Amino acid sequence: MDLSRTEIWQIKLMNKYLLKQIKKRYNNKRIKILDIGSGYGFLSGLVKKNKYDITEIDIKPQNSKVIKADVYKLPFRNNSFDVITSKSSFCYWEDSDKALYEITRVLKPNGYLFIMDIKKPKNKLIKNFLLIMDRIFLGGKNKSGAMKDFLNRAYSLEELNKVLKNKSIDYKIKICYWGLYYLIIGENKK
Ligand SMILES: C[S@@+](CC[C@H](N)C(=O)[O-])C[C@H]1O[C@@H](n2cnc3c(N)ncnc32)[C@H](O)[C@@H]1O
Repeated sequence: MDLSRTEIWQIKLMNKYLLKQIKKRYNNKRIKILDIGSGYGFLSGLVKKNKYDITEIDIKPQNSKVIKADVYKLPFRNNSFDVITSKSSFCYWEDSDKALYEITRVLKPNGYLFIMDIKKPKNKLIKNFLLIMDRIFLGGKNKSGAMKDFLNRAYSLEELNKVLKNKSIDYKIKICYWGLYYLIIGENKK
């Protein structure tokens, strides 16, 4: 695994935040969750303790429990999941319309979507600060520009609203982690 300890800690912290959002709405109900862009599949370890049934997919799975699949062509029937989550992956989906179409297809009516990702830095100063923090704490120096690419892809709130406009998703956007991240909380109104 080429993740630093701090990166693993950060991923786990954010997963806990996601799980809190799910628990708030579903408590101990037996629900089916799909996580998209799961990478190493850290979310499942956490979620299984809560007896939720989770499926993790990624185009480049880093762990054998993660299924190889693309967000643009989800290998599931319509209305298969109660909840869909995705963390730090949305900004990589270049055709967000196609991805959201697939997501709303496999998500049940009134099911919840939680998308968490980094927010486009407001200015160059914040961007450079994040790059330095990545270098110092998250081992970014070993990853040939991965953080720079991540930040360049990040959405601003205006761009997010544009992407989500006219979709069957009733949503709100929460800003978290000192204004650095956003969480889209969407309800499928198809
Ligand atoms: C920065 S990693 C985040 C991994 C994990 N969610 C986490 O928070 O640790 C982004 C992941 O999104 C995946 N990804 C990018 N495009 C995708 C697509 N079209 N379909 C599925 N997964 C995708 C990548 O392969 C990568 O594992």
